[in-house]
Amino acid sequence: MSSSDPYSGFYRLSRQARLTRLLELKLIDDADYAVLVNAVHSDYCDQAEKLIENVMGCFPMPLGVVPGVKLDGAEVSVPMVVEETSIIAALNRTAKWVRTQGTLTTSHQGNCMIGQLHIPYVRDFSALKATVLKHEAAVLAQLNETVLMGLAARGGGAQALVVRCIQRPGDAGDMAVIHLHCAVCDAMGANLVNMAVEALKPHIEALTQESIQTCIVSNLSDTQMTRATLVMNAIPSEIQASILKTAEFAELDPYRAATHNKGVMNAIDAVMIATGNDWRAVEASVHAYAARAGQYQAITRWTQSGDQLIGHFEAPISVGIVGGMTAAHPMAKLALKMMGVKHASQLARIAAAVGLMQNLAALNALATDGIVQGHMRLHIDNLVMASGAKTDEMDAVRTCLESVLTATKKVTLTDAMEALSALRVGHVQPITCA
Ligand code: MEV
Repeated sequence: MSSSDPYSGFYRLSRQARLTRLLELKLIDDADYAVLVNAVHSDYCDQAEKLIENVMGCFPMPLGVVPGVKLDGAEVSVPMVVEETSIIAALNRTAKWVRTQGTLTTSHQGNCMIGQLHIPYVRDFSALKATVLKHEAAVLAQLNETVLMGLAARGGGAQALVVRCIQRPGDAGDMAVIHLHCAVCDAMGANLVNMAVEALKPHIEALTQESIQTCIVSNLSDTQMTRATLVMNAIPSEIQASILKTAEFAELDPYRAATHNKGVMNAIDAVMIATGNDWRAVEASVHAYAARAGQYQAITRWTQSGDQLIGHFEAPISVGIVGGMTAAHPMAKLALKMMGVKHASQLARIAAAVGLMQNLAALNALATDGIVQGHMRLHIDNLVMASGAKTDEMDAVRTCLESVLTATKKVTLTDAMEALSALRVGHVQPITCA
């Protein structure tokens, strides 16, 4: 990199000097500078500098809570970080519905993450497999006495080696993959597993005379599984039928499944962010699991039994409650404390439960009023604010927009501005509402 590079050494600058450099480069102006400096208390930005490079500031997101989520016979209040207007509102309503008419149960099995060692062109797969399995116990013990010592002391550590063959089409030779199953206790475990597979590489190469290329954690952690089941009682048959038709659409059509699963992840991601977890890893895991049959499918299944509507969620959700952001970030600590989470599996179960409830909220909206109606009602508050209405004008503009929505099934910022102008020129009933 040449020394005339304006970004040279940028990462080494203090935050103040970095902002000054951005001003000099005209990448921000004075107003942007004020936003960056004032949006979030500087303590958070100091902490952010310990997490990532090139910090300019912190990006505030709404932190909400869905109180009274009844699951496994107890109530939990679930903190969520999310910007989409309807998500917490819909989940809140559904939590109430579940409290009065439903039973939500969850379970979690396994706590191994998978680390992969990739042999692009295996010379002799049978010999590789035999050698790895012959030395498995010694290799695992060595890992547990070295890189994974801390984890082993907490009851986790390297558990098993699995050898897989992946055939290329035609005659191009086979690929082999060795999986290290590693029990990660209450950590998410990606860093530990990455260290373990990198440490394992030279040993396996020496033992097998095969050449290993890539060593990395897998985000399809199907060695652990989180399940949630929701039984809703006394659901009218026509609502059941509509919900089941909409759910079947997502089971059979990947285009619909993507949106259906996005709705499930709306809740799961929001809990992951609130607890400082790696939501991209959970997204990757859930989507990969949704495609396990060779076609991308819905991650939930809905059935009926008499007047009961029954939903199931099943996917690997790998989360941590120790290490990384979860331990360091005060908001993440607060979120875990509020939910009374003591183990990672408990957090995974809460995430699965709210994902399934969020899915019910979406299916119910789609099967009854339609999503626009539901979203738009909530959107009205945003429009009222965006119109520039003062506090004492807001109720009138909101009332007007509600009647526009009822009459036309849609409502826009133009409607809000027109309602406000009409109000200001003295129309008791704004024109748009007439
Ligand atoms: C919007 O964020 C999520 C939904 O589209 C999910 C769905 O369609 O099932 C409402």
